Amino acid sequence: MKKIIVTGGAGFIGSHLVKKLIDNGAEEILVIDDLSTGKAENIKDFKEVEFLNKKIEEIDNLAELFNNFDFCYHLAAGVGVQYIMENLSKSLLTNIEGTHKVFEACKENNIPVLITSTSEIYGTSDEKEWFEETKSLIGPTTKLRWSYAASKMIDEFLALSEFEEGSLKPIVVRLFNIIGPNQLPDFGMVVPKFIDAALKDEPIIVHGDGKQSRSFTWVEDVVEYFIKLAEMKPYGEIFNIGQTEEISIKELAELIIKITDSNSEIVQKTHEEIFGNKFEDTMRRTPNIDKIVNFTGIKPSMGIEDMIKEIVAYKK
Ligand SMILES: NC(=O)c1ccc[n+]([C@@H]2O[C@H](COP(=O)([O-])OP(=O)(O)OC[C@H]3O[C@@H](n4cnc5c(N)ncnc54)[C@H](O)[C@@H]3O)[C@@H](O)[C@H]2O)c1
Repeated sequence: MKKIIVTGGAGFIGSHLVKKLIDNGAEEILVIDDLSTGKAENIKDFKEVEFLNKKIEEIDNLAELFNNFDFCYHLAAGVGVQYIMENLSKSLLTNIEGTHKVFEACKENNIPVLITSTSEIYGTSDEKEWFEETKSLIGPTTKLRWSYAASKMIDEFLALSEFEEGSLKPIVVRLFNIIGPNQLPDFGMVVPKFIDAALKDEPIIVHGDGKQSRSFTWVEDVVEYFIKLAEMKPYGEIFNIGQTEEISIKELAELIIKITDSNSEIVQKTHEEIFGNKFEDTMRRTPNIDKIVNFTGIKPSMGIEDMIKEIVAYKK
């Protein structure tokens, strides 16, 4: 595959993907990104990249632009708990209208598309491990935090419906807390926020009691999976992409303080203090990753301690 589209390619995962695609021999990459949460400097050094700084929903000739491309990675979306809570309807519409538009352009040009869904769609499921077929348990619509999950579910339903009807070749990946160099702390992502605070000896704010756990996944592994899936063409399939090692948010804060040798204090604040009463959290979020590992033969490469050390080294 030589000619590739990456929507959201100036963002965190998107820019790692662009770099890897170029390392693997891509000749032309069309990046579409409105820079709402991405940065042009993430991709400025790549001569193979043609950068269109626009909001997908506002592009009139998307199908024309997609002409002659081999594959589309659709990453553009409103992302991050804090960003979603501050841009409620805007991010909801981006995730639905933008995705619809991308699918239409892919269909017109017969281009397969990989879409980045999320672990959020499992909601507050209390199953020990979350398999691709695990039932979703998102909260009530009054808890607006779930709008992100619902919009990504619509994306999945649309992708799978159009696959069933024979008009689209989608691959769906559900990502579980991806971390790595270049991730911004500004939109509520916990690891870059904690590391930034620790490096400045500022208080580390833990939401709730800090007993909620997450499993973090290295961004380089994620882009390896993306590229392998595009080659293997499992159209109409869904894959969890994540790690099975769990860590509580309080332990994460302690680990970051230890690794950075910081004097930061851990300060607990309730979710209500931070996001108001339209928010609720999930206590655990751990994927079963047998499907992606067996299918691609690729295993996650790093544990949480090494990931944090790498990010800290990068920031320094
Ligand atoms: N990072 C994670 O842990 C995680 C977890 C689950 C799912 N995802 C999904 O992975 C994808 C990439 O996320 P990321 O972590 O790299 O976040 P990111 O915010 O760095 O990347 C999203 C990119 O899309 C761009 N964008 C947003 N709305 C746009 C629009 N309307 N038109 C054009 N560009 C637009 C942003 O400017 C940004 O560069 C997203 O679809 C996200 O939902 C990420």
